[in-house]
Formats: sequence, C-alpha cells, structure tokens
Amino acid sequence: MLQETALSSQNLMQLEDRYGAHNYHPLPVVLSRGQGVHVWDAEGKKYYDFLSAYSAVNQGHCHPRIIRALTEQAHRLTLTSRAFYNDMLGPFEKFITQYFGYDRALPMNTGVEACETAVKLCRKWAYEVKGIPANQAKIIFVAGNFWGRSLAAISASTDNNTTRNFGPYMPGYIIIPYNDLSALESALKDPHVAGFMVEPIQGEAGVFVPDDGYLRKAFELCRQHNALFIADEVQTGIARTGKLLACEHEGILPDILVLGKAISGGVFPVSAVLARDEIMLTLKPGQHGSTFGGNPLACAVAMEALQVVRDENLAENADKLGKIFRKRMQQNLVEKSTLVELVRGKGLLNAIVIDDDPEGDTAWNICLKLAENGLLAKPTHGNIIRFAPPLVMTEAQLNECCDIIEEAVLEFES
Ligand SMILES: Cc1ncc(COP(=O)(O)O)c(C=O)c1O
Repeated sequence: MLQETALSSQNLMQLEDRYGAHNYHPLPVVLSRGQGVHVWDAEGKKYYDFLSAYSAVNQGHCHPRIIRALTEQAHRLTLTSRAFYNDMLGPFEKFITQYFGYDRALPMNTGVEACETAVKLCRKWAYEVKGIPANQAKIIFVAGNFWGRSLAAISASTDNNTTRNFGPYMPGYIIIPYNDLSALESALKDPHVAGFMVEPIQGEAGVFVPDDGYLRKAFELCRQHNALFIADEVQTGIARTGKLLACEHEGILPDILVLGKAISGGVFPVSAVLARDEIMLTLKPGQHGSTFGGNPLACAVAMEALQVVRDENLAENADKLGKIFRKRMQQNLVEKSTLVELVRGKGLLNAIVIDDDPEGDTAWNICLKLAENGLLAKPTHGNIIRFAPPLVMTEAQLNECCDIIEEAVLEFES
C-alpha cells in the first residue's frame, strides 16, 4: 500500500490503463486528497474542483461533520442487510421524509438503482392503483435524459454511444423531446401511460434548463391524465440549483422523487426514492430491495450530510454564487469572446457552450489548460463545459475561479 501511494501520477494512470476496463476517458489528473472546494493530485498540486464528482460533493470534500458521522458509525455497525431491523434506518427514513415532505422513503445505493426503483414503483402503481392491464404500462422519458448505465436506463437513452450494441432494450418506454409540452400532452393521451420521468435540468446532456413553467405545466398535465410525475433529482437535488430541489423553482412536489449523489456528500453511495403512501405501499416484501440499501453507515452519513446542507445554507449560497458566475461568464466571455456561445444554468449547476462541433477538441483543450491553471472541469458532449463546484465555496473563491476560467478560455480566442 505504501509503495502504491508513492507512485507518480504518470505511473498511476498507466496502472489504470493497463489493468482497468477502458469505460472512461478521464482528464489526465490523478487525485489523492480533497478538502472543501479543493483537491490535490499525487504530486501535491492543488486544484479547485469544478465538477464535485458530478454534483455528489455538494457539501465539499471530506466535510468534517460527515466524516465524523461516517467513522463513528463505522466503529459501531456498518451492515445488517434488511433481513433484520437496524437502529439507524427508521430514524433516517423519518428524517428524510420530513426533510422533503413525503410519506415514505426507499433507500438504495446509486442513482441508477434509485431511478430504476422509481420506474418499478411507477409500473406497480399503474397496475394496482391506476388499473392498467397487465404488462401494458408505459413510461414517458425525454430525449437527452441520463439516469445511468443499467439496461433499464440505457433503454431510455437517445445517445447512440450509450446504447449501441447493448440491445435488446426494455419495452414500455416512450421518448419525447425535452421542454416540449405539446409532445407530452399528446403522449399522455395514451391510457396506458403510467408516468413521466424527467430531470428538472438535464445535467449530463449539457445543463439544459427548460423554459420557465415547463415543469409546473408538465406536472399539471400528469395530474390531468392520472400519470405520475417522477423527478430525477439525482444531479439537481440537494441544493445544487439554488433550492433544496430544482422542482421547488416551480413550486411542485413530484409524485416520486429520486435522489442520490449529494445525499451522502459524496462520501458513500446512498440514494433514495420518496413517494406518498398510495404509491410506495404497492411494494410488498420480496418485490424490491438491495443488500446494502438502508445500511446503518449510509443512514448515519446521509442524515449528517442533509443536516449540513441546511445548517450551512448551501442552497442560498448556490443561488447567490450562481448568479455571480453566470453574470461574469456572460459579460467577460459570451460578450467578449467569439469562442463562447452562451452560458446557462441555475444555482451552481452551469455550463458554457464552446463554438466548436461536438467532435472538436477545443473544450477538451480548454479543460487541460484549466487543470494546468489549477481548476478541474470536464467537457460533456464534446463542446460543452459543465461548471459545478462544491456549494461550500466562498464568493472570493468563486471570483478567483472565474478569473482562472476567463483567462484560460481567452487564451484560445486566437
Ligand atoms: C440525473 C441523473 N440520474 C441518475 C444518475 C445515475 O447515478 P449513479 O451514477 O449514481 O448511478 C445520474 C448520474 O450522473 C444523473 O445525473
């Protein structure tokens, strides 16, 4: 182990390249330590983290309170499976349902598992409450959605690279364009539609923010057609967009809420599905579960992580800093540089779009330059750079980061 930690970044990348599957294309930076908004590489170089592990580290790296909860619980009890009760699950379920305003919670581990749980729940509700004939239920998704890599998830994907050579795919899915209410309205006319699952802001697709009113109207259309509105807030939730949930921007509480990532502050895989009794209680023993879902370690970590979000006013901070970020990007890049087409986002989930085709390498090269200058971000879909720092950032730090971004991008101007 000691020997491994002494390896250089170059050696560590070679190890992954030689012994790992090649299912990722990381930036050539090897991280070995994190604290708050910063991470350090194997040689000790310090960076601002502007990805936050895809919005899992909203509370900042290694938040002392969350790490304390983790280590204290780790010394006491880590896993019981759900074959027995444990003394953390009930308190966690009470805490999280009251926190978000639901009747019940179903804990899982990763985001994709929680999304799949929501799809299963929606189907179960469709047959047992709505009365859709057996095996006929359909769920509507939108183009550009991303909810993970399982077969059920990629079956909803419109990204060819994600789906190619993994078929056959899951039936019962309808895909409509994002941000298109008339497409939703006509799809909902099918009486076999059980629900509509949507990211309030599409993260992986490139931080696409729908028109104001889209989510509220979509929610109302679902109501009118007795279909469940399912919000995948795995990336947008837990204060990232300047509210606890992105759906709050439009004053709606989804029928099924899917959470992951920052529920644990990025410390441990924890995800959860929240719903009303009428939906959640359609699941009976043996019909869904996970060995690790609801484990005491996850419960302790998640309660502390959610409490930190509240105590440190992270939603308010994300809202305030996000406005400063977009204003600076607008004034100093979009209006001054021909290279940056636009900036978009909400709270601290933002992106700039580089004037290059998605196959081009300008955004990648900008990210390499940013890394050299001490800031880590990564392109999504080739020409879009997402900026999502931990929400514990200060205004002074954000301004310093905007300086770094502006300087790096402007270097590519010529
Ligand atoms: C909106 C959304 N849903 C689901 C997922 C899947 O989460 P996980 O990678 O934890 O399975 C992601 C991951 O990026 C996501 O962004």
